[in-house]
Amino acid sequence: MSLSTEHLLGIKYLNKQDIDLIFKTADHFKAVINRPIKKVPSLRDITIANLFFENSTRTKLSFELAEKRLSADVINFSASQSSVKKGETLIDTVNNILAMKVDIVVMRHPNVGAGVFLSKHVDAKIINAGDGTHEHPTQALLDSYSIREKLGSVKGKKIVIVGDVLHSRVALSNIFALQLQGAKVKVCGPTTLIPKHITSLGVEVETNLKKALEWCDVANVLRVQNERMAINYFPSTREYTQLFGINQEILDNLGKKIVIMHPGPINRGVEITSDVADSDQSIILNQVENGVAVRMAVIYLLAQQIKR
Ligand code: CP
Repeated sequence: MSLSTEHLLGIKYLNKQDIDLIFKTADHFKAVINRPIKKVPSLRDITIANLFFENSTRTKLSFELAEKRLSADVINFSASQSSVKKGETLIDTVNNILAMKVDIVVMRHPNVGAGVFLSKHVDAKIINAGDGTHEHPTQALLDSYSIREKLGSVKGKKIVIVGDVLHSRVALSNIFALQLQGAKVKVCGPTTLIPKHITSLGVEVETNLKKALEWCDVANVLRVQNERMAINYFPSTREYTQLFGINQEILDNLGKKIVIMHPGPINRGVEITSDVADSDQSIILNQVENGVAVRMAVIYLLAQQIKR
């Protein structure tokens, strides 16, 4: 079995069989990384470059660990400490890195479509680790994998994505991934932070947090991404928290236990309180743990397509 795509540029380029294959492969790697010896020799002949043009904690370290667990050679590139600062273009930068015999490029970039652009201009496999406000495919894969692990399946589950959907690449990738697997998706947040076109994707909008939480099995909570806002989309953080912040009292009044997710980083006390983030309803750290196995699966499956 092979992925239907040469790169991982976005969930919109995957089909359901691809996701099933990634999850089956991730199941295998999750067992591997829970062994005393957490490495396999599978990718000893593969070299991977991690190019991060934006800050990252989870994604960057998770990719690096996934690559090392697969025994690939790994180089890391941080734009802020590179010759990008001297005006070198993206294509020149990547072609120079590829001249060092690199096979796979993992890239986070602030511009929408940066991964697609790169895939058309360089001879390497590209994995999108987040492109602007567009897609974050491995985050959506690890999110669905974590729902599947917690609830047995994604099919038929009701997921609400709460918060700043407008500036979120996690939201779009999650919508595509969840719908491919037969989940129902709603978004909930201030109308100014919900993209106008979202209903054309078959997603319902709910602006009442209580109603959204009463409906769902899982709430995936997003941070308000102030760093992406040229103007204020909401009067104040305090008002945002009053209307859309999730606290334990709201959850206790639902009369059922929903699953709480968050891609991180968390703004504790704004979109979610610490007691909720750290509660037994939260699978936030399971998401992070699963990220390594899911990224191992993606890298391994793409590497199988490389002709040695
Ligand atoms: N979830 C996520 O993308 O986190 P980082 O920005 O820390 O990588």
